[in-house]
Formats: sequence, C-alpha cells, structure tokens
Amino acid sequence: MCGIVGYVGKRPAQDLIYKGLARLEYRGYDSAGIAALEKLSNGSFVTRMIKAPGKLKELRALWGQIDFPSSHAIGHTRWATHGEANQANAHPHRAGPITIVHNGIIENHQLIREELAAKGVSFSSDTDSELFGHLVRAERESGKTLLESVRLSFRRIQGASAFVVMDERLPGTIVVVRNGSPLVLGIGEGENFVASDVPAVLESTRNIYYLEDNELAELTSEQVRIYSLDGHERPLNTVEIDWALDAIDKQGYEHYMLKEIFEQPRALTDTLSAWLDLSQGRFRLDAAAVARKSKSDGRTLGHQEIVRAFCEATMVHVVACGTAAHAGYYGQQLIEKLARVPTRAELASEFRYRDPMLRPTDVGLVVSQSGETADTLAAVKLMKQSGMRVFAICNVRDSSIPRECDAVFYTNAGIEVGVASTKAFTTQMALLAVVACAMASHRGTIDAATEKLWVEALGHLPEVARHSLEQSADVEAVAKKYSKKKGYLFLGRGLFFPIALEGALKLKEIAYVHAEGYSAGELKHGPIAMVEPEMLVLALAPEGRGLLHAKTVSNIEEVRARKGTLLSFCAADDNQLKKISDSWIEVPPIGVTELLPILTVLSLQLFAYYVAVERGTEVDQPRNLAKSVTVE
Ligand code: F6R
Repeated sequence: MCGIVGYVGKRPAQDLIYKGLARLEYRGYDSAGIAALEKLSNGSFVTRMIKAPGKLKELRALWGQIDFPSSHAIGHTRWATHGEANQANAHPHRAGPITIVHNGIIENHQLIREELAAKGVSFSSDTDSELFGHLVRAERESGKTLLESVRLSFRRIQGASAFVVMDERLPGTIVVVRNGSPLVLGIGEGENFVASDVPAVLESTRNIYYLEDNELAELTSEQVRIYSLDGHERPLNTVEIDWALDAIDKQGYEHYMLKEIFEQPRALTDTLSAWLDLSQGRFRLDAAAVARKSKSDGRTLGHQEIVRAFCEATMVHVVACGTAAHAGYYGQQLIEKLARVPTRAELASEFRYRDPMLRPTDVGLVVSQSGETADTLAAVKLMKQSGMRVFAICNVRDSSIPRECDAVFYTNAGIEVGVASTKAFTTQMALLAVVACAMASHRGTIDAATEKLWVEALGHLPEVARHSLEQSADVEAVAKKYSKKKGYLFLGRGLFFPIALEGALKLKEIAYVHAEGYSAGELKHGPIAMVEPEMLVLALAPEGRGLLHAKTVSNIEEVRARKGTLLSFCAADDNQLKKISDSWIEVPPIGVTELLPILTVLSLQLFAYYVAVERGTEVDQPRNLAKSVTVE
C-alpha cells in the first residue's frame, strides 16, 4: 500500500520518478506527488513539490512547477490510511528543509503529535506520516547527520513503515529506512534508486538490494551504504533480477487484468513444469528450482527436511488473505483428502488474533501473491514463534514473507499488475494441488497409479486452460446479458465452494455489485430468500456426475422453482443441468475432477471482467483498493 520512488544521479529525476510511480500505481491511487530539489543561482537548493488528489495522471497538469533540471527527487502514490485523500494529505510532506514520503502506519502517532504540538510545531496535513518529517527536522536542528536523525526518529515510532527522506541542505543524498513495509534499492552506474517494488526501477537497473526490516540506507549517486538500526554498517549484497520488461506492459490488451487472465496457460506451465516428472509419472519435490529458501539468515532448508516436516506434520495450518485465502480453502480440502493430515485454512487477520493452538510438529503453509501482506506476515511470525516449520507459496521473489519462512514454493505467474488477482490465484491453486499430492505420495496415502494420474492431469492443465479461455466470446455474451442484475449468487460445493467465494469477490471488487459466494447446500438456510428473477444465480457444477454434483443440481432445482435466473458452468454433456439453466458456459474436462475448479474459475474471472467493462468501472484500479496490503 502506497508506492514510493526516489532517485539520485545525473539524469532529470522528475520523469524517472513519474515513470516509476506509474509502475507502482497498483499500490494505491488516492493521490500522488513528487518533490525535487532545484539549484538556485546562488548555489543553494530549494524543494519544489507538486501534489494532486486522484490518480497519478492528475500530476501532469502541475508539471510546469517542477520542470527544471534536477537529479534528486522523491515521489509517492497513496492509499489513504490517516486523513482523507485530498491535496493536503498527499505525499510528499515537508517539515522545513526536510521532505519525506511514507508507506505504512505510525501507530503511536497521537502521542507524537501531542508532543510535537506542545513544542509549538504546526501541521499542514491530517496524516501520521508528516510527523516523521518533524521528528527528523528536530534531530537535524540539534546537529545530527541526516542518517543519524532518521535512525533516531525511526526508533521513536511504532508500526510497520518505510520512509524515504531528503534534506535540501544535503543535495544528492537520500536516506531510507524500513520495518514491515517493503523497500528495494536499485543500484545503477552513477545513479541509485529506492522504490517500494522492483518494477519501478527495472527499466534503469536490474541490480537490486532488498532492504531488510530495521535497516537504513544512505544513497548518493556514487554510493549506497547499508546500516542496521543500531548503527552498524552491513554489506550491500545485491541480486540480479531477470524479470522480462514486457511483463509490465499491456501488450495490446485493453486492461492488465485481461492480459493476465490470458497469460494463465503460460503461468501454469511455468509454475508446474519443474514439479512434474512426466516420464516417470511422479512429483519432483527435490527439484532445486521449486523449493527455494530465501530467509534473511541465508540458511537453506533442504528438500529432505521439507519432506520430513510434511511427513511428520500433526496438522497443517493454511493461512492467507482475500483471493489467496480462497486458494488456501481449496488447498485445505486437497491436503486433507489426499495426504490425510488434519488441515485448517483460515484468514490471516483472524488467525493471528485468536490465540491459535500450535504445536512445533504442526506445519504452516501461507499463501500470498505479493509476499508483503501484513496479516499473513504476522501469522508467519506467530507460527515461527511456536517452533513450527512454515512454508510459503508466493509469487514475488525475495519479498518479506518468503524471507521469514523456512522454504518457499514460488508460483511463476510473472508480475501481476491488475489489482484483482487472476493468474496468481490459479497458479496458487495448482501449486497447492502439487503440495497435497507430493505430501500424499511421501506419506504413502496415495498409490503410484493415483500419483501418475495427477501428474498427467497437471501436465495437461495449461493446454486445457488455453482451450477453456477460447470461449471468452461466450462468456462476454452472457456477461453483457446479465451485467445489470440486482445481485449475483455464486453456488458451489466441495472444491467448488472456494471458487464460488472467489467468483463473487472478483465481481464485487471490479464491478462494485453485490455478489455472494455460498455453499449450494446452505441455500435453503437463508440466501434462498433473495432468489427472484433479478438475482442471477451462478451454479458451479462442471463435474457432470457424482454424489455432490447430484446434490448441487437438486439445490439448483430449488432456485429454478423460485424463478431465479440461472447461469451454469457445466460439463458439455450435462444436459440435465443445461435443461434447467437460462444460460450456460461449458467447462472442458480434465483427467482428475479435482482440477476442474481451476478451469472453472477462468470463466468466472472473464465474467467479472466483462461485467465490469459493461458497467464502465475502473478494471485495473478499482476504487478504494490497493494490490499490496502492507497495513492491517
Ligand atoms: C483480490 C486480491 C486480494 C489479495 C489479498 C492478499 O483480487 O488480490 O484479495 O488476494 O489482498 O494478497 P496477497 O496474495 O498479496 O497476500
């Protein structure tokens, strides 16, 4: 939440900051601002600043005010926490010569505000962020260096935060600090960058340093120095990023979300291929490429230790937020069904505060696209405290969550820019299926023939997903037809229940309509009261046969009897379901029915997308949302 970019070098900084912010706008788009240092004719520097509520493009109208040669600037795109999204609350914030941008929350802001006010400080915004600038200013005025002033000020505040600070009396130097909110440093030739995330600097450098919690850095154009919060210098161990730049362009699609929906076959291949030994019909848990360790202490957990933890697990706790939690609910069912280990999936925001019973022999499995979600990160720390092994399923390399875990299984979905998660979700589901099967294989709860069946089906999954996406025109047609309904009720059972939740979430977040996901069996316990012709009921039952399917169909009959409008996601030969539906979308078959939810959700993503387009909402940047939720 909130995007930060800073630059010191020799090039005109303002354009670089603007471009970097554009790459980070997914982190928040309530307001934006840039501050740059201008050199006056007498050789001194002054800070010039432009800020505007709303999206980044609103800054363009003010561009003339910072249109001077400057090679030292910082910028920010905001997701509002304290104070409404107006001009005054937009970052950067100034305290005399000090200018700061901030991502996070100062939890003890009230105390600090009172203290500063008592000393006669007046404030120009309602934000907690501004206070940090005043703390730094006070330290500077007592004769400390900028680095020392930032260090001492940071010690005063509580909560997860990242700050970037400049001082007009120290042109060419930026000081940054973080704890809990992400910051990366981009190391260039005669120039250096700081940003909330790698895409902001990727066009200029691939040499990245991931700032650790409680680390500070001092950047000039020629040098970057890292310090711990107790003042000790640390080595600058950078990594080379190999992400493709085209991943962050729309490549002809109208929206990132649509592009990312269509990237899913490729994302699934990239995620699954290292795990599947197709010639032997076995899972490869030992593939070096799949289980990576990126903990800050650098200790690597070998695959034997991972296998042991899974084999000896007394319970698995799957913990995540939002869409990732829906993948977790799917994973929970598969792990319990295949590996026969008691498994519980829950929301990180609930888990961390309910004082869960955890044993050292339990295993944690957290799921996160960004690797930065505050509640999920806190859940990891809680599980680690009780001595458990904790593994992550994550998309963003070396982000905070993988660094805290004992090992990480990466979804190779590529950079996901659309705020509504799509390709990260299906790759999470696929990877959870792999983990469930691999666990089951090692625990001896599935036989070789079953393992082979799963390996083959997962091997086919990308191709079948491509086939499913070929029906996008059919999905677009039904989405248009039903885009103005009063409400949307997604019904599924078993493994289709998590995707009922996900289908409803996608629609809510990008089309701003009322939608709910329900277990079909729960219908008559309440929600059936809402059924009428203006309520669209989406029935997710593509397995075509089996006990649960028969039960779902009879639940759907109840909808029919009450004149609800019915859109089914069904097997091509399911004439029974088609007969009672107003419209249907076919879901292609695959070797194991447990993988059908992954194929079905592709059509639900397309449905949400086309409804949103029809309703004219902001698909890639839905109101009030941000992609990376780094505050509680
Ligand atoms: C919805 C969505 C969110 C995220 C949630 C967790 O489309 O993207 O619900 O799934 O904020 O984020 P991560 O996966 O980054 O931990």
